[in-house]
Amino acid sequence: MTSPLVDIVRAEIATTGPITFARFMELALAHPEHGYYAAGPARTTRTGDFLTAPELHPVFGWTLARQLHEAWERLGRPEPFVLREDGAGSGTLGLAIVAGLAADGSGLAAAVRYLPVEVSRRRRADCAERFAAAGLAGLLAASAGGEAPDPVRPFAGAVLANEYLDALPVHLVERHGGSFREVFVDVRSVPGVAGRPGGVPAAGDGFVEVLGEPSSPALAARIGGLGVELAEGQRAEVCLALSPWADSVAADLARGLVLVLDYGREATDLYDRRRMAGTLMTYRGHAADPSPEAAYRDVGERDITAHVDLTTVRALLAARGLAHLGTTSQAELLVGCGLEELLARERAEARDLRAALELRRAVHRLLDPRRLGGFRALLAGRGIASEPPLRGLSFRILGSG
Ligand SMILES: C[S@@+](CC[C@H](N)C(=O)[O-])C[C@H]1O[C@@H](n2cnc3c(N)ncnc32)[C@H](O)[C@@H]1O
Repeated sequence: MTSPLVDIVRAEIATTGPITFARFMELALAHPEHGYYAAGPARTTRTGDFLTAPELHPVFGWTLARQLHEAWERLGRPEPFVLREDGAGSGTLGLAIVAGLAADGSGLAAAVRYLPVEVSRRRRADCAERFAAAGLAGLLAASAGGEAPDPVRPFAGAVLANEYLDALPVHLVERHGGSFREVFVDVRSVPGVAGRPGGVPAAGDGFVEVLGEPSSPALAARIGGLGVELAEGQRAEVCLALSPWADSVAADLARGLVLVLDYGREATDLYDRRRMAGTLMTYRGHAADPSPEAAYRDVGERDITAHVDLTTVRALLAARGLAHLGTTSQAELLVGCGLEELLARERAEARDLRAALELRRAVHRLLDPRRLGGFRALLAGRGIASEPPLRGLSFRILGSG
């Protein structure tokens, strides 16, 4: 059965004309009723379409808790310490972090106030229920369904974004005849006619791609500002939504840490000619499909993501007073934060073979550079000492600065 979203997208195109791919992606993922993240079952779990690190095993959150503890100490142990989590889902990572802090005997366990930011109403409700069931409703901001009053903004604390920025809508641009064009999404009017001359064919659910003048000068300005040049025929993603996100981080965080964990690359790599088709990827039922037409199939039932431009994230945060502290791989961040110590502790206390094996498998996946270990971790901050390097950066070999 086709999702009602297909009719919603078609109706918008009928009213406004072809829409940008960014608008299409926004509707497909975040439409409040029928979007991929709003509707349907949990997407990021074993039974969903892909498994994120927090859903793999709580050891991920226990390990990040150690980085947060160190940041809290560096900031002079502020109370409250607000942990804003963007794209928090149903709070799996937040719960694991709080559990990790408690298991470590960290004073931050009592000072932390969790502020989930989540577009899905259902996941927000799940999060409130799970915190209440764990007896932790007092840690959850009132606006998120918890008992703690909403934090006074700006606050001291941290902003955490795990696999969030790659879900923000991206514009698609291409270079043809030396000029910069944007991909728009239209409804196919003639059955059987898919695609556009000289371009990548698009099909599925009756949508077709058309090229047009860029919808905003900010697109060319972003690419130009990065000092990169697209090759003839090259397609690339541009995430303009990173700017309002950086605005909101800068507005909220008076003092503290920003921790971004995601599929990410530097701009020179992202826009390199080796990536003629860009990095857009779709997922359904644990199967990845990078073909451009897949984005228009199973609209509202398929995840769409694009690699995060870390060069831009860093520059946008720096321009708002949030200094870059370092960029590394997720594996190195986790090892720096003490993942192996945690593994040893759990082993020593293990009473259950199945749980011990699950933990071991999870650690392998988290450290494997071809899997979750190859994600990037970008740390930035305001009012937090950068020296000595935070523990998550003690294995730093990547990134700039
Ligand atoms: C890939 S999932 C990651 C969830 C969680 N951070 C994890 O690692 O398991 C992306 C999350 O971001 C949320 N999301 C997407 N767009 C959003 C937006 N504009 N505002 C807030 N949340 C959003 C989705 O609902 C989803 O929970």
